[in-house]
Amino acid sequence: MKKIPFKTLSLSMAIFSQALIPQAVMAEPHPGKVLHDDNNCMRCHAEKPYNPTKTDSFPKLIKSIRFCNDNLGIGLFDDEIEELADYLNNTYYQHSK
Ligand code: HEC
Repeated sequence: MKKIPFKTLSLSMAIFSQALIPQAVMAEPHPGKVLHDDNNCMRCHAEKPYNPTKTDSFPKLIKSIRFCNDNLGIGLFDDEIEELADYLNNTYYQHSK
């Protein structure tokens, strides 16, 4: 049987005990994905697909997220912007950091 590292196990249990959402236990979503879903970014960006040519570096990606955050008054903290950037970069941009 595959050993599950204690850290992963205790984190899963922490999530499980906080919110009884089975999905969260089976696959822990990227924190940036959670922020992306919760803040409804796809409300606009489904029609404006993320464009790696336009936003052509990781620092620019951070700036673009900050632009939306500031202009729309979304109210994200800096660490949340970084998590979002990491998620969007993994999913759409694939820029080196
Ligand atoms: C009200 C509509 C709206 C919402 C909601 C919104 N954005 Fe944007 N976003 C824009 C517009 C407008 C631009 C800049 C113009 C463009 O890309 O055509 C932009 C640009 C961006 C870009 C750069 C675009 C590219 O093609 O690379 C990123 C990244 C981005 N937004 C992330 C986010 C994130 C993350 C959220 C959620 C926290 C969010 N946006 C929510 C309208 C929105």
